[in-house]
Amino acid sequence: QHSTVTDFEDNDRKPVGHGRMLRKEDPRFVRGKGRYVDDVQLPGMLHLAILRSPMAHARIVSVDTSLAEAHPKVKLVVTGAMLAEKNLAWMPTLSNDVQAVLATDKVRFQGQEVAFVVAEDRYAARDALELIDIEYEPLDPVVDVRTALSPDAPVIRDDIEGKSDNHCFDWETGDADATDAVFARADVVVSEDIVYPRVHPAPMETCGAVADYDAVDGRLTLWSTTQAPHAHRTLYAIVAGLPEHKIRVISPDIGGGFGNKVPIYPGYVCAIVGSLLLGKPVKWMEDRSENLTSTGFARDYVMRGEIAATSDGRILAIRTHVLADHGAFNGTAAPVKYPAGFFGVFTGSYDIEAAHCKMTAVYTNKAPGGVAYACSFRITEAVYLVERMVNVLAYDLDMDPVALRMKNFIRPEQFPYKTKTGWVYDSGDYEPTMKLATELVGYDQLRAEQAEKRARGELMGIGVAFFTEAVGAGPRKDMDILGLGMADGCELRVHPTGKAVVRLSVQSQGQGHETTFAQIVAEELGIPPEDIDVVHGDTDQTPFGLGTYGSRSTPVSGAAAALVARKVRDKAKIIASGMLEVSVADLEWSKGSFHVTGDPTASVTIQDIAMRAHGAADLPEGIEGGLEAQICYNPENLTYPHGAYICVVDIDPGTAVVKVRRFVAVDDCGTRINPMIIEGQVHGGLTDGVGMALMEMISFDEDGNCLGGSLMDYLIPTALEVPDWETGFTVTPSPHHPIGAKGVGESATVGSPPAVVNAVVDALKPYNVRHADMPLTPSRVWEAMNGQATPP
Ligand code: CDP
Repeated sequence: QHSTVTDFEDNDRKPVGHGRMLRKEDPRFVRGKGRYVDDVQLPGMLHLAILRSPMAHARIVSVDTSLAEAHPKVKLVVTGAMLAEKNLAWMPTLSNDVQAVLATDKVRFQGQEVAFVVAEDRYAARDALELIDIEYEPLDPVVDVRTALSPDAPVIRDDIEGKSDNHCFDWETGDADATDAVFARADVVVSEDIVYPRVHPAPMETCGAVADYDAVDGRLTLWSTTQAPHAHRTLYAIVAGLPEHKIRVISPDIGGGFGNKVPIYPGYVCAIVGSLLLGKPVKWMEDRSENLTSTGFARDYVMRGEIAATSDGRILAIRTHVLADHGAFNGTAAPVKYPAGFFGVFTGSYDIEAAHCKMTAVYTNKAPGGVAYACSFRITEAVYLVERMVNVLAYDLDMDPVALRMKNFIRPEQFPYKTKTGWVYDSGDYEPTMKLATELVGYDQLRAEQAEKRARGELMGIGVAFFTEAVGAGPRKDMDILGLGMADGCELRVHPTGKAVVRLSVQSQGQGHETTFAQIVAEELGIPPEDIDVVHGDTDQTPFGLGTYGSRSTPVSGAAAALVARKVRDKAKIIASGMLEVSVADLEWSKGSFHVTGDPTASVTIQDIAMRAHGAADLPEGIEGGLEAQICYNPENLTYPHGAYICVVDIDPGTAVVKVRRFVAVDDCGTRINPMIIEGQVHGGLTDGVGMALMEMISFDEDGNCLGGSLMDYLIPTALEVPDWETGFTVTPSPHHPIGAKGVGESATVGSPPAVVNAVVDALKPYNVRHADMPLTPSRVWEAMNGQATPP
């Protein structure tokens, strides 16, 4: 179905550019010719390895590096004390905390960076780590988030002046009094304790960097696994005191980000320090265990959810209290005004009277993080909470979960809809999406089958979930990361022969931007997408912008790409008026050419215009040569995609093993640019969701040892554990996005865990199970069946 012409007709419903065009980047990926950070080889390059703390909480008594320094292949050994002399031992995190680059006083989580070695090769660097002798004085660790604030808990962050407890931040949203009043008069109040366990984004490529400092011209080039090259560059400039124009951050092919590659990790800074001190290129590439134990985890929310409703199932109010485990340093990346990310959308897709949330975040002796793993800043947790709670209500009222949702949906005429926590949902039409999901899955037949099976003692569950996401951060007035406004630049240049290059500030990690952004420009300019090159991931070659996470690429940079193309088209129109010797008002645009109104034969193509723009002939007065434009797009609002997911599971009553038999996902992400890519994004996200619901959890023993430090212990789903995904879609365009598109990259990760858990709990109804916490491993399910469900 690869089309080479600008023919959108084969696309789904409200189409944009070339429908299911195959991905431009795939010839390079399927041939193994991607160029990742670890593929970077520079003359004289040295290798860096990091010594990590074996303990979760301990005072550093002494550090002896003499044997490592004597290793014949070792060029440099650096400790926290050495960094402290240069004022580089601590760095800011992307959420207004500080984090140790290398520990100086104490170690605060197992796997924390303590020293680094630079050697001639990777093996020697690793060997030399063994030669560093560190004496630790063990301290009691804080592992359980529930006891982190008890008065006798050891204080983890004694580096912060005056800190006398493990309190990280408090956050509140909604109206407590109004919510309490509704709860006081409600017929029904349901409540449940719900845990979203700590999980890890676990991208296929781990994190790493190659730093190359050229002392002659004072230029630092950094290849790094980052989802936000521009933001990182600015922070390096501020922290290291290097001039920003002398820093070039290159984020080449990235093997999956999922939020894991948003934070700045100590390893990146160590590579820079190594190169600055040695004047040679230095490579750092972490291994799988380092990635799992020391880079940004996700979730880790202990939540209490409450719903007030009428006895016939009208939801009146939602109240929640959250205890958030942020690990040893608050290493999440969240817009400054939103320390709890976008958790404020916990009111979900329902029209209610009041809502309130109170959150307490604490430090524990665990890896820092709270990153938004395939989710727009904590929306995954919010959606899980509300969708689990709605099912708890359905359980208590003995109502059908689809009917209960339908009864409470925000109605189409209520959009734009302002939630009780202040979010303005741009557009939505929920009922058709829910209905389509029930039709695709054959909901009524499934319920009939379930009734038959229950009568025979078989365990079959049908799980329903509905979500509304908020994706595409800014606008800049509301959202900034450390003062950097969340807007995106975009530049477009059309060459004389009509080929074009579009330069983006966002950075793909596998989502297919080289294809879809070319499609957006192709739609606007009528140039075949094959003729449009997409450049991204290099601060020297692209305009400033805040990067790719929280599904913000399409809502923000996608809008920028459409608008910059329209700017080019406006200029092209003036040039065309000169070529056709008519006024601009007499020209009409039709896919790739301007013609004189009423005379389609008098026309010039965009390619003709591009040549004229660069040619010798005169251009209309006031028009400069060339055909290019640039913009910085500041989104008016977030976009709010939605979706209805239905999961069918079978549980073996003898072993408590859950099998996901079917999964139907109906997504509405507004205008769909490339349906094939969207389906791929949804398939990946659903797989993530099944993983979180059934098998993934980063756990710790009582000493703070991480028990999930390898992919043998930290299970991630494979093709064996997931069904053939069944997808559908509805289209409710965003009213403020120039092409009506909303983000989609993370929808499935957000929407699928509650669908799976709701299915498992539904299957266990004969055992009177009302809730069980993820991951629903066989032992957890077994415990739930035996009435002893315990939080992790
Ligand atoms: O920011 P990120 O790229 O992770 O997420 P996204 O903006 O949701 O886009 C993921 C991929 O799906 C990109 O290649 C988009 O262009 C594509 N997409 C699409 O084809 N149509 C949409 N309405 C939304 C995304």
